[in-house]
Amino acid sequence: MKSLLIVYHSQSGTSAQLANAAWRGAQREADIEVAVMRAWDAGTVDLDRASGVLLVMAENSGALCGTMKDFLDRTFYPAIARGLVLPYALLISAGNDGRGAQQQAERILSGYPFPAAATPIILRGKFCPAHERASCELGQAFAAGLSMGIF
Ligand SMILES: Cc1cc2nc3c(=O)[nH]c(=O)nc-3n(C[C@H](O)[C@H](O)[C@H](O)COP(=O)(O)O)c2cc1C
Repeated sequence: MKSLLIVYHSQSGTSAQLANAAWRGAQREADIEVAVMRAWDAGTVDLDRASGVLLVMAENSGALCGTMKDFLDRTFYPAIARGLVLPYALLISAGNDGRGAQQQAERILSGYPFPAAATPIILRGKFCPAHERASCELGQAFAAGLSMGIF
């Protein structure tokens, strides 16, 4: 069975709510296993088991939040050594921007090299029904694409 790994980091809880909503959306697809892990608990072995990975994190100081950067730093060379090529999607929480985190993540992930499965989504401000909807839809669309073998 294909599996979607959702890796997130959250300082205040906002990114955690986005990850949770994405998980709920992905759960709507029957033929996909969905795992949610905090970035500091996740590693290469988890990527190895996954068919696709959704990264959920905040932009901090114009860049990826440090814990997600640490996850990517820890898995970069081991993933290359295993020849892992996983489709990925990005869900970014931000105050008023988010583009720095997006660009940095895209640049790093292109080096694995992981292909993008969806247009990155930046959600600004506090968690709200629109964020719930967007996160849920992304999770479901990614899971459906994996299930159908599109990615
Ligand atoms: C130290 C710090 C730096 C931040 N830097 C940015 C930034 O550069 N651009 C931005 O849009 N938001 C920035 N924010 C706002 C966060 O991205 C936003 O509050 C986000 O929802 C936090 O999600 P989290 O609490 O789940 O980690 C920053 C927040 C903190 C705490």
